[in-house]
Amino acid sequence: MSSAMRSTVTLHVVSSLDGFIAKKDNSVSWMDSPGDVYEKGVAEGNADDEVAAIDCFVLGARTYQHALQLGWPYGDTPTVVMTNRELPSTRESVEFYSGDLKRLVGEILAPRYGNIWLVGGAMLGQSFLRLGLVDEIRLMIAPVILGDGVHLFSDSGTEQKWHLKNVVAYKNGFVELSYRRQSTDSWPESGYVRRAPLITSA
Ligand SMILES: NC(=O)c1ccc[n+]([C@@H]2O[C@H](COP(=O)([O-])OP(=O)(O)OC[C@H]3O[C@@H](n4cnc5c(N)ncnc54)[C@H](OP(=O)(O)O)[C@@H]3O)[C@@H](O)[C@H]2O)c1
Repeated sequence: MSSAMRSTVTLHVVSSLDGFIAKKDNSVSWMDSPGDVYEKGVAEGNADDEVAAIDCFVLGARTYQHALQLGWPYGDTPTVVMTNRELPSTRESVEFYSGDLKRLVGEILAPRYGNIWLVGGAMLGQSFLRLGLVDEIRLMIAPVILGDGVHLFSDSGTEQKWHLKNVVAYKNGFVELSYRRQSTDSWPESGYVRRAPLITSA
């Protein structure tokens, strides 16, 4: 194993019990706590060091536009938005990209950032999964069935095995499942070597 610093891409999303990350009307009230208490759970909140140390967020254009409407949750952390359109720039921390995702990760993100969080939506998450660009998945399951909406995993490519790293149950009934990718067919170990991207051209 190299001692060079590595970058890790973590896919982080909140899903309903039936696998939807958004309702068709984009409403988010289903993510609110149901009000009952799961006694064995830990207190709400997720302020561990890893979360605090996020270096960069990556999101699809539709998630970006929805985040602007809801009130920007990403602070001043560098944020990369994927779009094929000319979207108005709203914040200094936001950069827009289009095109090849392997190149984006290998040439642009990995040399600059260690802890990269891909926060959706489904379309972009599925593209990353199909290309083997996700190292870790943190899936927060909300205690609700939506019945319809945007599927998290509808088009994620071929079978992939993931190793369960951690499970946290919260008092509000949400459960966070953390997984690490098992196979290493696309990239060495579970990350990318900084300043030495494996893919150097589109
Ligand atoms: N529950 C959760 O944790 C969670 C997380 C994130 C989002 N959401 C919700 O999910 C919904 C949006 O998800 P979504 O799957 O519909 O859309 P999305 O993944 O957020 O955005 C899709 C858009 O990203 C752009 N894009 C994707 N790949 C690209 C590439 N390689 N190059 C250039 N542009 C690329 C395209 O934008 P252009 O059309 O501009 O080209 C595409 O239409 C929203 O309601 C959001 O609030 C929920």
